[in-house]
Amino acid sequence: MSSYATIYEAIGGADTIRDIVSRFYPKVQAHPLLAPLFPEDITPVMEKQYLFLTQFLGGPPLYSDEYGHPMMRARHLPFPITPERAEAWLGCMAEALSETSIPEPLQKLTIERLSGPAHHFINTDSDSAHR
Ligand code: HEM
Repeated sequence: MSSYATIYEAIGGADTIRDIVSRFYPKVQAHPLLAPLFPEDITPVMEKQYLFLTQFLGGPPLYSDEYGHPMMRARHLPFPITPERAEAWLGCMAEALSETSIPEPLQKLTIERLSGPAHHFINTDSDSAHR
């Protein structure tokens, strides 16, 4: 990544973000802890994630251009996010990344970057989530 200014560029830009997103959501929808939180029609969520991941990884600010300040923790508050769900989310993402041609050190870096927000979005104890 040394010759690239951002992870976004290093992993291959827009096409790679699309690839990640399209591999990630089927795993989320198949995961017993995550699936119940998501709508049946996942397409709008995929589109938002494409916009957000682009800017999160250092690409153009596509999400903010469309939706304003991300306020991602606040946007996740309606959903009971337990520590287990955060790990599950990161697990699906790691699996999606592993199916792409992104070099392994960059996969690891991407997961490290996402790990902070994923844990920050936890808003519910393990015990108190009944759905
Ligand atoms: C920690 C585990 C996580 C869970 C369980 C989770 C779950 C969800 C759910 C249920 C939605 C709403 C889907 C809908 O529109 O009905 C959502 C939206 C979204 N999530 Fe997550 N999420 C997690 C972590 C993350 C992380 C780490 C990121 C990126 C850093 C992220 C980015 C987004 C984005 C961009 C949206 C769309 C926001 C919008 O409506 O504009 N999520 N997530």
